[in-house]
Amino acid sequence: MARKTKSIFLAFLLLCSFSLGVVVVAQEEAIAKSESEALGEPEKRETLEIIIGGGGSPAPSPSPPTYCPPPPPKPLSRLEKAKRVLLKFKTTIDDPNCYTQNWSQDTDACKFNGVRCANFPDDQQRAVAGLDLNGAKLATKNGGNLPLTGLLDSIPELTFFHVNSNNFSFVGGFPNNITRFRFFFELDLSNNKVSGKFPTQAIQNNQLVFLDLRFNQLTGPIDPKLFERDLDVIFVNNNKFTGYLPENFGSTPARYLTFAHNSLSGSLPKSVGYAPNLTEVLFLKNQFEGCLPFEIGYLKKAVVFDISENLLTGPIPLSFGCLKKIQFLNLAHNKLYGCVPDNLCQIPSIRNNGNLSLANNYFNEIGPSCWSLIKSKVLDVSGNCIPGLPNQKSPKECYQFYKTKKTCPNPNSFYYVPCKSYWGRQSKPTSPPSEPVTYKTLKPHRLRL
Ligand SMILES: *[C@@H]1O[C@H](CO)[C@@H](O)[C@H](O)[C@H]1NC(C)=O
Ligand SMILES: *[C@@H]1O[C@H](CO)[C@@H](O)[C@H](O)[C@H]1NC(C)=O
Ligand SMILES: *[C@@H]1O[C@H](CO)[C@@H](O)[C@H](O)[C@H]1NC(C)=O
Ligand SMILES: *[C@@H]1O[C@H](CO)[C@@H](O)[C@H](O)[C@H]1NC(C)=O
Ligand SMILES: *[C@@H]1O[C@H](CO)[C@@H](O)[C@H](O)[C@H]1NC(C)=O
Repeated sequence: MARKTKSIFLAFLLLCSFSLGVVVVAQEEAIAKSESEALGEPEKRETLEIIIGGGGSPAPSPSPPTYCPPPPPKPLSRLEKAKRVLLKFKTTIDDPNCYTQNWSQDTDACKFNGVRCANFPDDQQRAVAGLDLNGAKLATKNGGNLPLTGLLDSIPELTFFHVNSNNFSFVGGFPNNITRFRFFFELDLSNNKVSGKFPTQAIQNNQLVFLDLRFNQLTGPIDPKLFERDLDVIFVNNNKFTGYLPENFGSTPARYLTFAHNSLSGSLPKSVGYAPNLTEVLFLKNQFEGCLPFEIGYLKKAVVFDISENLLTGPIPLSFGCLKKIQFLNLAHNKLYGCVPDNLCQIPSIRNNGNLSLANNYFNEIGPSCWSLIKSKVLDVSGNCIPGLPNQKSPKECYQFYKTKKTCPNPNSFYYVPCKSYWGRQSKPTSPPSEPVTYKTLKPHRLRL
């Protein structure tokens, strides 16, 4: 039942041109409902009678002018309250692109640039359901960082808050009360001036499905609670996060995750392989070390797996040949070594327009199926130690490396293959793979997904 209300209100997310297909199924059924709501329902205002003086006395009758208190003010509608918040916010900002130019007292707040309205499910009152200030480059009047308090925390009907490329920060604290917002699904604070520790308060709302904190200056470890939430999208790339990824990583139901361009270290937790819906993940450009856990081969839905530019060592586990949906596998710029498993080069989704980048490692052997992939430019093994191939490291460098290479714990696990072979299976010449979502997060501007 709660799910149903969620899906009705979620329909408004469609309006915001953002939706990643995050909730496609739920949305489709909901569109019709919300359209009829939007067309059918005139604005209802609560006409609660406020009894001044309380105590059960009857409502004051319109009579003697002198002693009577002024008529009780009509309670503000949801929309009027939000309008006050927005207009007050406007007085505090420097708005170099005139983004809020048409926010004015005599305009319907639903027509303000960047404002999306919808009927609030509880009482069908018109309300501000979403705020999109993407690219507005707002700051305070003296060029300082904007607080989220006074805006994000003051419109409880919000379903999404997208403020890519502004000067918002946590000055004034992170607004704790968004935890209580009933329908808050999407938080995009990307490319702002957010610093400090991982904002645990931001993920305390159980409704949240989309979290985008990329391109900020967040520091310290990533809170393990992040992986316990019902999030579909986690974008935290291009911050300054440090520390290990927690062991509970695999609890996340998320499909799209980006940790790229941080300073995360330690080895990849085994549980990464058990993340049930993981479709695309970017770990590139961190300081991950140790060996690849064979469990990664369990990622049946993974299309993109990029852990390039780290400090990983050891061989590629044969289980990687079981990544049956993988199209973009990037292990380049690490210290991996040994033989490139032949079963990896047989995966149909790689052979059919995929991209397997193993450049700049210390591989010294490749399986027979890999040769044709080099020819078709799907596989890049430049900068390795493979005899007979061009653009390899010098024999001296390779010799030095192999003399001192580190071995991996549990070496037998590297030979374990938890699936049937794809050998000889025809790769269907279907449509070329769609462009991955997560690589677009590596640019700071707003995402058009
Ligand atoms: C305010 O600007 C937005 C974007 O240009 C526009 O869609 C909206 O209709 C404008 N509102 C009014 C009241 O003119
Ligand atoms: C936002 O911050 C940047 C640098 O941190 C600054 O250059 C810019 O002027 C600020 N924006 C405004 C509108 O003051
Ligand atoms: C959230 O808290 C702030 C103060 O911390 C308050 O001004 C605001 O009205 C609160 N919003 C809601 C919707 O409760
Ligand atoms: C994600 O995985 C969970 C647990 O396996 C499953 O219940 C859920 O339906 C999956 N969600 C999506 C969007 O595939
Ligand atoms: C494969 O991916 C690498 C790394 O992202 C990229 O540099 C290269 O251009 C891609 N190759 C093809 C053929 O798309």
